[in-house]
Amino acid sequence: MTKPTIFVTRRWPAAAEEALAAHFEVTLNEDDRPLSKDELAEGFASHDIAAPTVSDVIDGEVVRAGGEGSCRMITNYGVGVNHIDLAAAASYGITVSNTPGVLTDATADLTLTLMLMLCRRAGEGERELRAGEWSGWRPTHLVGRQMSGKTLGIIGMGRIGRAVAQRAHFGFGMDVVFQNRSPVDDGTGVGARQLADVAAVCAASDFVSLHCAATPQTANIMNADAIAAMRPGGYLINTARGDVVDETALAQALHSGAIGGAGLDVFQGEPAINPDLLSAPNTVLLPHLGSATEETRVAMGMKVLENALAFAGGETLPDKMA
Ligand code: DGY
Repeated sequence: MTKPTIFVTRRWPAAAEEALAAHFEVTLNEDDRPLSKDELAEGFASHDIAAPTVSDVIDGEVVRAGGEGSCRMITNYGVGVNHIDLAAAASYGITVSNTPGVLTDATADLTLTLMLMLCRRAGEGERELRAGEWSGWRPTHLVGRQMSGKTLGIIGMGRIGRAVAQRAHFGFGMDVVFQNRSPVDDGTGVGARQLADVAAVCAASDFVSLHCAATPQTANIMNADAIAAMRPGGYLINTARGDVVDETALAQALHSGAIGGAGLDVFQGEPAINPDLLSAPNTVLLPHLGSATEETRVAMGMKVLENALAFAGGETLPDKMA
């Protein structure tokens, strides 16, 4: 029996690629370079299943090429699907899946990394030392702020938000407040309090961490007003998506000293970075590393495979988006 064909837009860890190849006729992007829109469209049109990832733009035209060609499923390597035109996929009857759950711990760990790096000025210290500018220990050198015992505000209390809350509370004795679009029993055992809105969370928190999905409703949810509601000296952390932050307002708040700093793993229009963020003081900027552990990236590939196998076998998909 011939295997279904699958188009994989970027390289995966070897173990996951091998597992996929055992079940499908796989086309890999051997050079692992970003594919152009035409290349994506051609790949979608000529395969049964497409496996793009979060850095590909799967807009209406790419989906149309797939729908008018042989593509019947998009199995996304990644939990976020804001780069895929889901409405277009639905209109062509193309099934979409993602990879929730397996990147929760890695992303939560990286959120705590950013929080600590920021308040303990670790990035600044490392840059100073490597530049040969460290003149030795002194009581006033690179004095940051303690994280333990502070209040953490979470915007979006889903899987990753809850995992961050647990780490912050049980590891660092932090109180947790949160905003979520619907009422939730946070289920974390940390006694987190749901507040009325984003501004209320910003006003109550020393650290504000963003964990909502990027949707039209959450675009710029951290807008100028929300940033202005943050405590003086407050820190903003974003491991969700660049689109949920008004980067212009954030850069202004950082340059003026209105807030204490920002730890960002995701950016609008990444990999290009707003120059005003690059030059802002008290920032830690990482290149979208949230899920970047060997364990997680293999598990994400296995999730893609699981969904593709379910689709090929006519079974219910574990992670159907649309
Ligand atoms: C995702 O899966 O959406 C993440 O951003 C990848 O790290």
